[in-house]
Amino acid sequence: MYPTVHVVGHPLVQHKLTLMRRKETPTAEFRRLLREISMLLAYEVTHDLPLTTERIETPIAPMDAPVLAGKKLCVISILRAGNGILDGFLDLIPSARVGHIGLYRDPATLVPVEYYMKVPHDIAERLTVAVDPMLATGHSAAAACQRLKDAGARQVRLVCLLAAPEGLKQFTESHPDVPIFTAAVDERLNDHAYIVPGLGDAGDRLYGTK
Ligand code: URA
Repeated sequence: MYPTVHVVGHPLVQHKLTLMRRKETPTAEFRRLLREISMLLAYEVTHDLPLTTERIETPIAPMDAPVLAGKKLCVISILRAGNGILDGFLDLIPSARVGHIGLYRDPATLVPVEYYMKVPHDIAERLTVAVDPMLATGHSAAAACQRLKDAGARQVRLVCLLAAPEGLKQFTESHPDVPIFTAAVDERLNDHAYIVPGLGDAGDRLYGTK
């Protein structure tokens, strides 16, 4: 395993992930579970945010109390399934800034092509967390992180729900400086670049489009 890969083995994450994997889990439950797991992944990816102190008064006494230092983080949803993780992040970190990146794969060249990108202007000053449930080939996540770096992001992390070994290799070779937080690393990709055993198409299961 790569030193930049953090597998979140928390029992609640693992249990909820199993519920999501089951093919009979309906759309509404899948969406709710992704939101809940995403809160727990957000907790992990922010474990080292810098703190400062602020002078406050409790009903009993004054104290120097810890508060987050500097600008709040920026969450980047890789469309469209990234929005399912984004919702959980915003439940936990409501003041986070949000960006979106949309990429599609050119059928002829297989190169990811950007069709949408909007990110906060001060991304250079924020911890930037890109979110996408499935790290399959790793090509679109790597392309998205490159766009973020080109836009000025200096501290980037990637959060996914499931990763394939092929995707971890591809992504880590492109971005050895970007830590990856995932709930599980599955066996492999199949011939259609789906993760095995995986959970199917995350976007379709999230939005009921199939
Ligand atoms: N994207 C998905 O939604 N599922 C996979 O298994 C791979 C990529």
